[in-house]
Parts: sequence; structure tokens; C-alpha cells
Amino acid sequence: MLAVTCTSQSADDPLSGLTVGDVTDPSVPDGWARVTVRAASLNHHDLWSLKGVGLPADQLPMVLGCDAAGVTESGDEVVVHGLVGDPTWVGDETLDPKRSILSERYQGTLAEQVVVPSRNLLPKPAGLSFEEAACLPTAWLTAYRMLFTNAAVKPGDRVLVQGAGGGVSTAAIALARAAGLTVWVTGRDEAKRARALELGAHEVFEPGARLPARVDAVLETVGKATWGHSMKSLRPGGTLVVSGATTGADPSADLNRLFFLQLRVIGSTMGTRDELAGLIGMLAATGVRPQVDEVIPLAEARRGFERLAAGDVVGKIVLTP
Ligand SMILES: NC(=O)c1ccc[n+]([C@@H]2O[C@H](COP(=O)([O-])OP(=O)(O)OC[C@H]3O[C@@H](n4cnc5c(N)ncnc54)[C@H](OP(=O)(O)O)[C@@H]3O)[C@@H](O)[C@H]2O)c1
Repeated sequence: MLAVTCTSQSADDPLSGLTVGDVTDPSVPDGWARVTVRAASLNHHDLWSLKGVGLPADQLPMVLGCDAAGVTESGDEVVVHGLVGDPTWVGDETLDPKRSILSERYQGTLAEQVVVPSRNLLPKPAGLSFEEAACLPTAWLTAYRMLFTNAAVKPGDRVLVQGAGGGVSTAAIALARAAGLTVWVTGRDEAKRARALELGAHEVFEPGARLPARVDAVLETVGKATWGHSMKSLRPGGTLVVSGATTGADPSADLNRLFFLQLRVIGSTMGTRDELAGLIGMLAATGVRPQVDEVIPLAEARRGFERLAAGDVVGKIVLTP
């Protein structure tokens, strides 16, 4: 089958390790299911894997990709939850120490087929296209958990989303707006800020700009470049939820501000199967849909990776076999 594989890793030239070509069809262990992939989306995670972050070199070659929507051998249309844990684990799967995300220990979704535990399959609603459904399991699920589980915002709250065009950012903007929050967004360029307004932001700002008021919660995926601004933007008792550090993971902790204003800083990673079901239900109820920037044939995956690496994306790049 055709697949997009990480064959070597380089921090300086990540795309040098990207191979698009034929690999052996996967076999199906007991309790797992084969999904014919109809659409898979790219995530920053795929770039980290090519850079050697999170994907051990001894696991190469590894088919990349955490997200997919497709069809099972019995003809069911499904969304794939990308978090694979210990089958004996009870409770929140994101807290399972043995969990991994597809493409870390098990082969990923950027392929004509993917094999996953059967319990990782959720029904795809008819109202969502395969391309839209393929955006949900990583970026959109992460944004959903950040907002509703970890920031625990409620209608009427004010939230700041750092980054305008990212996969997680665009999801957070749309979900926060649909949930009745006031949504403020920072973005690096005028065009992306304009798109953020179209996606549901009430106001947009340049990174680091002084805001008209403090916010109840900040959603952080950018890291070092925006962390100081995130800390300064919170009201006393406010919550900073962080799920990524694209620009660096070693900002000033700003401890004086943290304790004096009694801020809460909460890490967040992916989401549970139940949260993915909740997200799918929310899209069905609200009509909110993922922002798909471009749909690219799987064979031309390199172009999608180049766009993601250049930061030249608003929403999600989707690959179709
Ligand atoms: N923990 C988890 O489960 C989880 C899940 C998903 C993602 N993540 C992580 O979250 C991060 C974002 O993922 P993604 O897939 O959304 O990535 P992405 O689509 O590549 O988005 C990158 C975002 O970062 C912003 N950005 C990049 N460099 C910046 C800078 N120098 N200053 C200000 N903003 C900057 C961009 O802002 P503009 O739009 O303004 O250019 C954009 O919004 C990644 O590090 C990823 O690994 C973690």
C-alpha cells in the first residue's frame, strides 16, 4: 500500500527523512481492526517525529499520521481515536503511562490502510465528510479537552487563543465561539488574523499585544514565544492550559505572578474516547465544522508537509489516498 513514512530524522532538515512509497499491508492482531483510510490529516506531531522528538529512532521506519477517517472491512464509516493504551487500563486513557499516539509505537494513518484496536473506532456521522472527520482526533480533540475539561470554561467567559492559523488554534476558536465564550486571538500576520475573525474570534491582536482586559483562560500551544504574554493576560485565579510548545519549552515560569495572582497552569494532551464522542456530538449539534485549508492526494504528501513546516496554513491539511 502507499504510505508516508519517516525513514530518518533530522532536527535541521526534517523533510529529508520523509518517504512516500509502497510498504507492506499491515496485519490485524486479535481485537484490532483494519480501516481503509479515506482521509488523514497532518499535525505538527508529524514534523516533531521527523525531527526526532517523541519518536524513538529504533522504531523507524514508521508510517506517520495520528488522525484518520475511513471505512472498516464490514463497511462502517468510522473516525479513528489515535490514542492506544494498555487494554487493562481503567479510567482516563490520557493518564495511562503506557499510552502512545499512532505513529509513535504503532504505524500511523498517512497510508491507504491503518490497523487499530477495535475500541478506537467511533461512528462517523453522515453530516461530516471524511476530510472533516479526519481533522478531529488530534487537533480538535486536544482543543476540546483544553477548553471544556481542563480550562473548564463556561458560557460568558473570556478566552485567549495564542496562534491564529494552527490546527489546534483554529479548532479552539471555533469551539469556544460555539460554546458562548468571548474569543480573543493572537496571530502573526494580518491575513491569518482576518481568517480568525471569520472562524469566530471576536477580536484579534498581534502576538504580545496589550489586551483591553484580562481573560479567564488562555489556550497555549505556541510555547516560549507567547508564554509571557499568556501569563500576563490572565485575570487573578485564571487558568492557562498548555498542550504544545512549538517555539520552545523553556520559557520563564514567572513564579511571582503565578503565586501572587493564584493562577493555574494545566497541561493537556489529546483526549479520551468519550471526549472524542462529545466533540463529534458538539459538531452535530452546532453545525461547526473543521477548517480544511487544503486537500492533497497522499502521493503528494510532501507538499503538505512543506506548507505545515513553513507555517503557511490556516486550519488543517488533509491527505486523501
Ligand atoms: N499535547 C497534545 O496532545 C497536542 C495535540 C496537538 C498539538 N500539540 C502541539 O501543539 C502545537 C501546535 O500544533 P498544531 O498541529 O496546531 O500546529 P500548527 O498547525 O503547525 O500551528 C502552529 C501554531 O503556532 C503558532 N506559532 C508558530 N510559531 C510562532 C511564533 N514564533 N510566534 C507566535 N505564534 C507562533 C502559529 O501561529 P500563527 O497562526 O499566528 O502563524 C500557529 O497557530 C505543536 O507543538 C504540537 O506538537 C500537542
